[in-house]
Amino acid sequence: NQKIIIAIDGYSSSGKSTLAKAISKKLKYKYIDSGAMYRSVTLFAIQNKIFNSDLWNIQNFIPILKEINLKFKWNKKYNQTDIFLNKENILYKIRSEQVEDKVNFISQIPEVREKLTLMQRNMAEEKKGIVVDGRDIGNYVFPKSELKIFMKGSIEIRSYRRYKDLKKRGKKISYEEVKKNLIYRDIMDTSRNISPLKKSIDSIEIDNTFLSVEKQLNLIFKLINKKK
Ligand code: C5P
Repeated sequence: NQKIIIAIDGYSSSGKSTLAKAISKKLKYKYIDSGAMYRSVTLFAIQNKIFNSDLWNIQNFIPILKEINLKFKWNKKYNQTDIFLNKENILYKIRSEQVEDKVNFISQIPEVREKLTLMQRNMAEEKKGIVVDGRDIGNYVFPKSELKIFMKGSIEIRSYRRYKDLKKRGKKISYEEVKKNLIYRDIMDTSRNISPLKKSIDSIEIDNTFLSVEKQLNLIFKLINKKK
């Protein structure tokens, strides 16, 4: 069986990672969570107090980008991929509100995108048979990937799923607030100058507003089997 690259792009909270994880488990593929990488760089910026003045200064940030060392390690015990930023396990920290607030600024910086794109391509070199989720994967990072999926869902369903998820994790936030945040992120992701979120012409769109995870996976595995 031929091993392929599967690119899953789409809007925030459209269920990309749920599908990517399930696919990687079933096919024994490597999963690359590119959003987690942008979040990690954002955490690094916060730790280095880049945002401390009102006018945060990109010029102070770019020179220290080279100090970032990201490593992904499979954690057998907890069945998860741990993420290490300069030896610190930051798996949970990158999901914080603080990081969410700032990640859209960081992901607009050309030097950051360049660095992470290169890392993603290197990770693919090591092993074919990967599934990558993000915003610019099919269009930019792996334009030749064999299967490209573009995920969308109504703003209401995405907000509701995210709201439930945050509640489960004990966050105090209203549905309206979650929805407002998502609308903001959609605008930022689709309107940035470099590699904005955009459906590529050769991708297959999945609108999961009314589609269960199981149905989405059935659909995707049919597509994969045709490609392999
Ligand atoms: O997918 P996730 O919500 O974790 O991504 C967080 C943020 O990282 C996105 O809102 C986007 O700004 C940025 N991102 C990106 N390009 C990617 C993946 C994520 O700009 N390929």
